[in-house]
Amino acid sequence: MFDKAKARVDARREARQVPPPLDPEQAAKEAHERDKGLTKHHFEPHEHPCVRIEHLMKTFDGETQVLTDVNLTVWPGEVVCVLGPSGSGKSTMLRCINLLETPTAGHILIEDKEITGHLPTKEVNKLRQNLGMVFQSFNLFPNLTAKGNVMIGQTKVLKKSKEEAEAEALKQLDAVGLGDRADFKPAQLSGGQQQRVAIARAVAMHPDILLFDEPTSALDPELVRGVLDVMRDLAENGGMTMIVVTHEMGFAREVADRVVFMEGGVVVEQGTPEQVFDNPQHNRTAEFLGSIG
Ligand SMILES: Nc1ncnc2c1ncn2[C@@H]1O[C@H](COP(=O)(O)OP(=O)(O)OP(=O)(O)O)[C@@H](O)[C@H]1O
Ligand SMILES: [Mg+2]
Repeated sequence: MFDKAKARVDARREARQVPPPLDPEQAAKEAHERDKGLTKHHFEPHEHPCVRIEHLMKTFDGETQVLTDVNLTVWPGEVVCVLGPSGSGKSTMLRCINLLETPTAGHILIEDKEITGHLPTKEVNKLRQNLGMVFQSFNLFPNLTAKGNVMIGQTKVLKKSKEEAEAEALKQLDAVGLGDRADFKPAQLSGGQQQRVAIARAVAMHPDILLFDEPTSALDPELVRGVLDVMRDLAENGGMTMIVVTHEMGFAREVADRVVFMEGGVVVEQGTPEQVFDNPQHNRTAEFLGSIG
Protein backbone atom coordinates (compact mmCIF):
# COMPACT_ATOMS: atom_id res chain seq x y z
CA MET A 1 0.00 0.00 0.00
CA PHE A 2 2.70 2.43 1.10
CA ASP A 3 4.91 1.45 -1.86
CA LYS A 4 2.05 2.10 -4.25
CA ALA A 5 1.45 5.53 -2.74
CA LYS A 6 5.16 6.27 -2.91
CA ALA A 7 5.28 5.18 -6.54
CA ARG A 8 2.40 7.55 -7.32
CA VAL A 9 4.21 10.43 -5.62
CA ASP A 10 7.42 9.60 -7.49
CA ALA A 11 5.52 9.45 -10.79
CA ARG A 12 3.89 12.82 -10.13
CA ARG A 13 7.23 14.29 -9.13
CA GLU A 14 8.77 13.08 -12.34
CA ALA A 15 5.88 14.35 -14.45
CA ARG A 16 6.26 17.82 -12.98
CA GLN A 17 10.02 17.67 -13.03
CA VAL A 18 10.39 18.64 -9.41
CA PRO A 19 13.90 17.71 -8.39
CA PRO A 20 14.26 15.53 -5.32
CA PRO A 21 14.86 17.47 -2.10
CA LEU A 22 18.44 18.34 -1.35
CA ASP A 23 20.43 16.32 1.09
CA PRO A 24 20.15 18.02 4.54
CA GLU A 25 23.83 18.91 4.82
CA GLN A 26 23.97 20.35 1.33
CA ALA A 27 20.65 22.17 1.80
CA ALA A 28 21.87 23.75 5.05
CA LYS A 29 25.11 24.82 3.40
CA GLU A 30 23.32 26.41 0.46
CA ALA A 31 20.78 28.07 2.75
CA HIS A 32 23.58 29.50 4.94
CA GLU A 33 25.21 31.06 1.90
CA ARG A 34 21.96 32.43 0.51
CA ASP A 35 20.29 33.55 3.72
CA LYS A 36 23.15 35.23 5.53
CA GLY A 37 22.50 38.38 3.50
CA LEU A 38 18.70 38.14 3.62
CA THR A 39 17.91 38.00 7.32
CA LYS A 40 18.90 39.72 10.53
CA HIS A 41 18.68 36.36 12.31
CA HIS A 42 21.98 34.88 13.38
CA PHE A 43 22.53 31.20 12.71
CA GLU A 44 25.47 29.01 13.55
CA PRO A 45 27.44 27.03 10.94
CA HIS A 46 26.16 23.70 12.30
CA GLU A 47 22.48 24.74 12.27
CA HIS A 48 19.90 23.49 9.80
CA PRO A 49 16.75 25.41 8.77
CA CYS A 50 13.62 24.26 10.61
CA VAL A 51 11.41 24.83 7.56
CA ARG A 52 12.52 24.20 3.99
CA ILE A 53 10.15 24.84 1.14
CA GLU A 54 11.48 23.79 -2.25
CA HIS A 55 9.60 24.29 -5.51
CA LEU A 56 6.24 24.16 -3.76
CA MET A 57 3.30 24.08 -6.13
CA LYS A 58 -0.39 24.02 -5.31
CA THR A 59 -3.21 23.65 -7.80
CA PHE A 60 -6.89 23.55 -6.89
CA ASP A 61 -9.31 21.41 -8.89
CA GLY A 62 -6.56 20.45 -11.29
CA GLU A 63 -6.50 23.85 -12.93
CA THR A 64 -6.32 26.89 -10.61
CA GLN A 65 -2.61 27.21 -9.99
CA VAL A 66 -2.22 29.18 -6.78
CA LEU A 67 1.38 28.46 -5.82
CA THR A 68 3.70 28.23 -8.77
CA ASP A 69 7.17 27.76 -7.35
CA VAL A 70 7.66 28.80 -3.75
CA ASN A 71 11.11 28.51 -2.19
CA LEU A 72 11.75 29.60 1.37
CA THR A 73 13.82 28.55 4.37
CA VAL A 74 13.19 29.52 7.98
CA TRP A 75 15.77 29.13 10.75
CA PRO A 76 15.16 28.18 14.38
CA GLY A 77 14.21 31.36 16.24
CA GLU A 78 13.73 33.41 13.08
CA VAL A 79 10.75 35.72 12.60
CA VAL A 80 9.61 35.86 8.97
CA CYS A 81 6.87 38.26 7.90
CA VAL A 82 5.09 37.47 4.64
CA LEU A 83 3.52 40.33 2.69
CA GLY A 84 1.65 40.37 -0.57
CA PRO A 85 -1.57 41.36 -2.30
CA SER A 86 -4.83 39.51 -1.77
CA GLY A 87 -4.87 36.23 -3.67
CA SER A 88 -1.09 35.94 -3.91
CA GLY A 89 -1.11 32.59 -2.10
CA LYS A 90 0.05 33.56 1.40
CA SER A 91 -2.62 31.61 3.28
CA THR A 92 -2.28 28.67 0.91
CA MET A 93 1.44 28.49 1.65
CA LEU A 94 0.83 28.50 5.43
CA ARG A 95 -1.91 25.91 5.04
CA CYS A 96 0.46 23.68 3.05
CA ILE A 97 3.09 23.97 5.81
CA ASN A 98 0.78 22.46 8.41
CA LEU A 99 -0.89 20.15 5.92
CA LEU A 100 -4.32 21.76 6.03
CA GLU A 101 -3.80 21.65 2.26
CA THR A 102 -1.96 18.94 0.36
CA PRO A 103 0.79 20.34 -1.85
CA THR A 104 0.44 19.38 -5.51
CA ALA A 105 4.19 19.16 -6.07
CA GLY A 106 7.45 20.21 -4.50
CA HIS A 107 8.80 19.71 -1.03
CA ILE A 108 8.22 20.93 2.47
CA LEU A 109 10.65 19.72 5.09
CA ILE A 110 10.26 20.40 8.79
CA GLU A 111 13.45 19.77 10.76
CA ASP A 112 14.85 17.98 7.68
CA LYS A 113 11.86 15.63 7.57
CA GLU A 114 9.86 15.57 4.36
CA ILE A 115 6.17 16.14 5.11
CA THR A 116 4.97 16.19 1.52
CA GLY A 117 3.76 12.93 0.07
CA HIS A 118 1.70 10.41 1.96
CA LEU A 119 2.28 10.57 5.68
CA PRO A 120 0.46 8.26 8.06
CA THR A 121 -2.21 10.10 10.12
CA LYS A 122 -0.15 9.55 13.26
CA GLU A 123 2.78 11.42 11.69
CA VAL A 124 0.51 14.24 10.49
CA ASN A 125 -0.88 14.67 14.00
CA LYS A 126 2.60 14.71 15.49
CA LEU A 127 3.66 17.30 12.97
CA ARG A 128 0.67 19.52 13.73
CA GLN A 129 1.60 19.49 17.41
CA ASN A 130 4.89 21.10 16.47
CA LEU A 131 3.24 23.73 14.30
CA GLY A 132 0.94 26.12 16.12
CA MET A 133 -1.45 28.15 13.99
CA VAL A 134 -3.21 31.41 14.81
CA PHE A 135 -6.03 32.36 12.45
CA GLN A 136 -7.56 35.70 11.53
CA SER A 137 -10.90 34.62 13.01
CA PHE A 138 -9.56 33.29 16.37
CA ASN A 139 -11.41 29.93 16.04
CA LEU A 140 -12.08 29.58 19.78
CA PHE A 141 -14.65 27.13 21.14
CA PRO A 142 -17.58 29.41 22.11
CA ASN A 143 -18.87 27.11 24.85
CA LEU A 144 -15.53 26.95 26.70
CA THR A 145 -13.97 29.61 28.90
CA ALA A 146 -10.66 31.22 27.99
CA LYS A 147 -8.98 28.75 30.33
CA GLY A 148 -10.92 25.83 28.86
CA ASN A 149 -9.84 26.82 25.36
CA VAL A 150 -6.19 26.85 26.40
CA MET A 151 -6.53 23.55 28.28
CA ILE A 152 -8.34 21.40 25.74
CA GLY A 153 -5.45 20.70 23.34
CA GLN A 154 -3.17 19.95 26.24
CA THR A 155 -5.50 17.36 27.77
CA LYS A 156 -6.82 15.83 24.54
CA VAL A 157 -3.69 15.85 22.37
CA LEU A 158 -0.76 16.02 24.80
CA LYS A 159 -2.63 13.87 27.37
CA LYS A 160 -1.66 16.16 30.23
CA SER A 161 -3.51 15.91 33.53
CA LYS A 162 -6.23 18.48 34.21
CA GLU A 163 -4.13 20.07 36.94
CA GLU A 164 -1.06 20.39 34.74
CA ALA A 165 -3.08 21.76 31.82
CA GLU A 166 -4.81 24.27 34.07
CA ALA A 167 -1.54 25.53 35.53
CA GLU A 168 -0.09 25.95 32.03
CA ALA A 169 -3.27 27.67 30.80
CA LEU A 170 -3.18 30.19 33.65
CA LYS A 171 0.51 30.83 33.03
CA GLN A 172 -0.05 31.45 29.31
CA LEU A 173 -3.15 33.58 29.87
CA ASP A 174 -1.13 35.63 32.31
CA ALA A 175 1.61 36.04 29.71
CA VAL A 176 -0.88 37.55 27.25
CA GLY A 177 -2.32 39.86 29.93
CA LEU A 178 -5.53 37.90 30.52
CA GLY A 179 -4.89 36.27 33.88
CA ASP A 180 -8.02 37.95 35.21
CA ARG A 181 -10.22 36.76 32.32
CA ALA A 182 -9.57 33.02 32.61
CA ASP A 183 -13.20 32.22 33.38
CA PHE A 184 -14.72 34.39 30.64
CA LYS A 185 -16.31 32.84 27.55
CA PRO A 186 -15.25 34.16 24.11
CA ALA A 187 -18.49 36.15 23.73
CA GLN A 188 -17.56 38.05 26.90
CA LEU A 189 -14.17 39.04 25.50
CA SER A 190 -13.19 41.67 22.94
CA GLY A 191 -11.79 40.54 19.59
CA GLY A 192 -8.29 41.48 20.71
CA GLN A 193 -8.70 39.50 23.91
CA GLN A 194 -10.04 36.51 22.00
CA GLN A 195 -7.04 36.60 19.70
CA ARG A 196 -4.72 36.73 22.70
CA VAL A 197 -6.48 33.64 24.10
CA ALA A 198 -5.89 31.96 20.71
CA ILE A 199 -2.20 32.81 20.94
CA ALA A 200 -2.02 31.52 24.54
CA ARG A 201 -3.69 28.32 23.33
CA ALA A 202 -1.12 27.85 20.57
CA VAL A 203 1.84 28.61 22.86
CA ALA A 204 0.56 26.25 25.59
CA MET A 205 1.19 23.35 23.20
CA HIS A 206 4.88 24.36 23.10
CA PRO A 207 5.20 24.14 19.32
CA ASP A 208 8.53 24.54 17.55
CA ILE A 209 7.03 26.95 15.04
CA LEU A 210 4.09 29.33 15.17
CA LEU A 211 2.22 30.27 12.00
CA PHE A 212 0.06 33.41 12.02
CA ASP A 213 -2.41 34.17 9.23
CA GLU A 214 -3.31 37.88 9.43
CA PRO A 215 -3.90 37.69 13.18
CA THR A 216 -4.97 41.33 13.49
CA SER A 217 -6.94 41.86 10.28
CA ALA A 218 -10.32 41.17 11.87
CA LEU A 219 -9.72 43.55 14.79
CA ASP A 220 -10.83 47.10 15.41
CA PRO A 221 -7.78 49.36 15.12
CA GLU A 222 -7.61 50.10 18.85
CA LEU A 223 -7.31 46.38 19.64
CA VAL A 224 -4.50 45.64 17.21
CA ARG A 225 -1.66 46.89 19.38
CA GLY A 226 -2.32 44.52 22.30
CA VAL A 227 -2.10 41.52 19.99
CA LEU A 228 1.02 42.78 18.24
CA ASP A 229 2.66 43.43 21.62
CA VAL A 230 2.06 39.80 22.59
CA MET A 231 3.55 38.62 19.29
CA ARG A 232 6.53 40.91 19.70
CA ASP A 233 7.14 39.53 23.18
CA LEU A 234 7.04 35.97 21.84
CA ALA A 235 9.54 36.87 19.14
CA GLU A 236 11.93 38.91 21.23
CA ASN A 237 11.75 37.24 24.63
CA GLY A 238 10.29 33.82 23.84
CA GLY A 239 12.74 33.02 21.03
CA MET A 240 9.81 31.57 19.05
CA THR A 241 10.19 30.70 15.37
CA MET A 242 7.38 32.56 13.63
CA ILE A 243 5.99 32.88 10.12
CA VAL A 244 3.59 35.80 10.14
CA VAL A 245 1.35 36.75 7.24
CA THR A 246 0.46 40.36 7.97
CA HIS A 247 -0.39 43.77 6.58
CA GLU A 248 1.07 45.44 9.66
CA MET A 249 4.08 47.09 8.08
CA GLY A 250 5.28 48.68 11.34
CA PHE A 251 5.38 45.28 13.00
CA ALA A 252 7.18 43.72 10.03
CA ARG A 253 9.75 46.48 9.97
CA GLU A 254 10.46 46.38 13.69
CA VAL A 255 10.11 42.71 14.59
CA ALA A 256 10.82 40.65 11.47
CA ASP A 257 14.26 39.21 10.84
CA ARG A 258 13.22 38.71 7.25
CA VAL A 259 10.46 40.09 5.07
CA VAL A 260 9.09 38.03 2.19
CA PHE A 261 7.02 39.55 -0.61
CA MET A 262 4.76 37.13 -2.47
CA GLU A 263 2.77 37.70 -5.62
CA GLY A 264 1.17 35.36 -8.13
CA GLY A 265 2.14 32.25 -6.20
CA VAL A 266 5.88 32.93 -6.01
CA VAL A 267 8.25 34.65 -3.61
CA VAL A 268 9.12 37.73 -5.65
CA GLU A 269 11.60 39.16 -3.21
CA GLN A 270 12.92 38.64 0.30
CA GLY A 271 15.42 40.31 2.56
CA THR A 272 15.90 42.15 5.81
CA PRO A 273 13.15 44.69 6.56
CA GLU A 274 15.58 47.46 5.62
CA GLN A 275 16.36 45.86 2.26
CA VAL A 276 12.74 45.20 1.33
CA PHE A 277 11.14 48.38 2.68
CA ASP A 278 13.88 50.89 1.92
CA ASN A 279 15.43 49.44 -1.20
CA PRO A 280 13.10 46.99 -2.95
CA GLN A 281 14.69 45.32 -5.95
CA HIS A 282 11.51 44.58 -7.87
CA ASN A 283 9.00 47.04 -9.26
CA ARG A 284 6.11 44.97 -7.99
CA THR A 285 7.42 45.10 -4.42
CA ALA A 286 7.83 48.87 -4.65
CA GLU A 287 4.35 49.27 -6.15
CA PHE A 288 2.78 47.11 -3.47
CA LEU A 289 4.56 48.92 -0.64
CA GLY A 290 3.61 52.25 -2.23
CA SER A 291 -0.04 51.23 -2.49
CA ILE A 292 -0.36 50.35 1.17
CA GLY A 293 2.11 52.79 2.65
N1 LIG B 1 -9.94 25.72 -1.69
C1 LIG B 1 -9.73 26.51 -2.77
N2 LIG B 1 -10.25 26.20 -3.98
C2 LIG B 1 -10.00 26.97 -5.07
N3 LIG B 1 -9.26 28.09 -5.05
C3 LIG B 1 -8.72 28.46 -3.88
C4 LIG B 1 -8.91 27.70 -2.68
N4 LIG B 1 -8.24 28.31 -1.67
C5 LIG B 1 -7.66 29.41 -2.22
N5 LIG B 1 -7.95 29.49 -3.54
C6 LIG B 1 -7.49 30.55 -4.44
O1 LIG B 1 -6.11 30.67 -4.31
C7 LIG B 1 -5.70 32.02 -4.45
C8 LIG B 1 -4.81 32.40 -3.30
O2 LIG B 1 -5.56 32.34 -2.12
P1 LIG B 1 -4.91 32.64 -0.70
O3 LIG B 1 -6.02 32.57 0.29
O4 LIG B 1 -3.74 31.78 -0.49
O5 LIG B 1 -4.41 34.14 -0.90
P2 LIG B 1 -3.87 35.18 0.16
O6 LIG B 1 -2.58 35.69 -0.36
O7 LIG B 1 -3.88 34.57 1.51
O8 LIG B 1 -4.96 36.36 0.07
P3 LIG B 1 -5.59 37.30 1.22
O9 LIG B 1 -4.59 38.39 1.46
O10 LIG B 1 -6.84 37.82 0.60
O11 LIG B 1 -5.84 36.46 2.43
C9 LIG B 1 -6.97 32.84 -4.56
O12 LIG B 1 -7.16 33.19 -5.90
C10 LIG B 1 -8.03 31.90 -4.08
O13 LIG B 1 -9.27 32.13 -4.73
MG1 LIG C 1 -4.97 34.92 3.24
